[in-house]
Amino acid sequence: MPHSQPGSWWRDAVIYQVYPRSFADSDGDGVGDIDGIRARLGHLAGLGVDAIWMSPWYPSPMADAGYDVADFRDIDPVFGTLAKAEALIAEAHELGIRAIVDIVPNHVSSEHVWFRKALADPGAPERDLFWFRPGRGKHGDEMPTDWVGEFGGTTWTRTTNPDGTPGDWYLHLFTPEQPDLNWDHPAVRADFEDILRFWFDRGVDGIRIDSAALLIKDRALPPVVEGRPHPFHDLDEVHEVYRAWRRVSDGYRDRALIGEVWLPEVERFAGYLRADELHAAFNFDFLGCAWDAGPMRECIDRTLDAHRAVGAPPTWVLSNHDVTRHVTRYGRTTTTFSFDDNLDGTPVDLELGTRRARAAALLSLSLPGATYVYQGEELGLWENENIPPDRMRDPMYARRGHSRDGCRVPLPWSGDEPPFGFSTAEPWLPQPREWKDRTVQAQTGDPSSMLELYRSAIALRKAEPGLHEPPMQWLASAPGVLAYTRGAAFACVLNLSPAAVALPAHRSVLLTSGPLDGDRLPPDTAVWLRLAT
Ligand code: NOJ
Repeated sequence: MPHSQPGSWWRDAVIYQVYPRSFADSDGDGVGDIDGIRARLGHLAGLGVDAIWMSPWYPSPMADAGYDVADFRDIDPVFGTLAKAEALIAEAHELGIRAIVDIVPNHVSSEHVWFRKALADPGAPERDLFWFRPGRGKHGDEMPTDWVGEFGGTTWTRTTNPDGTPGDWYLHLFTPEQPDLNWDHPAVRADFEDILRFWFDRGVDGIRIDSAALLIKDRALPPVVEGRPHPFHDLDEVHEVYRAWRRVSDGYRDRALIGEVWLPEVERFAGYLRADELHAAFNFDFLGCAWDAGPMRECIDRTLDAHRAVGAPPTWVLSNHDVTRHVTRYGRTTTTFSFDDNLDGTPVDLELGTRRARAAALLSLSLPGATYVYQGEELGLWENENIPPDRMRDPMYARRGHSRDGCRVPLPWSGDEPPFGFSTAEPWLPQPREWKDRTVQAQTGDPSSMLELYRSAIALRKAEPGLHEPPMQWLASAPGVLAYTRGAAFACVLNLSPAAVALPAHRSVLLTSGPLDGDRLPPDTAVWLRLAT
């Protein structure tokens, strides 16, 4: 089976996340769209990425920016049409870029036909496709459980019967507009397997699986109690779902299943990557790790060990559409990321954050495995922390006081002022005026820019044999410094200490994230070296 051979594309690809709303707008409504992506494929080819992953583009009321899907087999008119999506996939393929779509199996939109039928008639068979339950208490007016939602807030909403009386409640781990599906029901399983085939038949090379560890719920609906099995996080039965999905993807050539699996225990995480389950999963441990040599080294070791044990490729992720952009994170005193620590508005040194983000790029692009690039990270964009509250669109903002909108701001392409070539209209989220020197146009040809650093690093990664097969090996290094080889001829050194350090013996410098200090590596700087062999 060619798809499980080492060397399959997803094992060492550079995968670029396109957030369609914010990539490029072709029709002047302030929202990005598929034709915008098609028009800018040259940017992605020039960057050298191997694949693009599109966040959801399906018909949706956009209660959660498209992660509330009304129909997985079509495209929302704001983004285009199915024919345009097919054209994008074909045009990307012509440029040697693979395409990944985002599937959201835990829930659908409350506008999905199944849920509309289920709501319209308490006796409808579609009711069983969701989690409808009577309320607790004498009048059924207390929620069936006290579970707290993934965005904070409650997880049940009461329905009204057709005769106007209060009815059952339904479960939603996210917003009320995202009812959870009942994965114990065979029709749910069959439909999603069919949705996978629908997109594989249209040529997509991979599926990103949203909230992959949440699908199965404990039918007894027990409370969440520390030390007891969680009622909806990571239940063992979820693995049956992915074994079935793997059988579907194995029916095609070279297709990858990539899970969004946020789990604190790396062994549980790796369980999703066993040979008959998913091909890869996002490394959130790395994303959330402090800019600190000790924790960073431990995270890298933990990642490599866990993936080695199941034969899966590690992944390296610094940012995505849910987390604070890493230029901002790395410019703060606390450089970790967790949804529980709301650091919005805390002081940030963007110059420091940018220097570290440049070094992080050389780290994440030289570790063994696949590397994810979130749109705009190649431009060094920072979090827009100045979005006025009345422009916030993220449903998490109202519930948790933290908004993900700041990392979802439309890309700056050209020109000196907003909308920076993104659109001809006011973008759906405001762009900082200071992005005028972060546009693609302004950075192109400037050897000191983030964009040229990414272009050079990705090109070198392709050309450098050491960055393909060979495992990494730590080199002895000074405290606060991470140094490793890939094969006999390549090394990466990252200085996380506060002082410049001497470089190990080398034949030449291939690339640096910032200027060297003579033959010393300054703090928060990384270098790729050619070693004498
Ligand atoms: C994870 C997605 O990345 C996020 O954007 C979304 O809000 C939730 N899952 C719910 O689908």
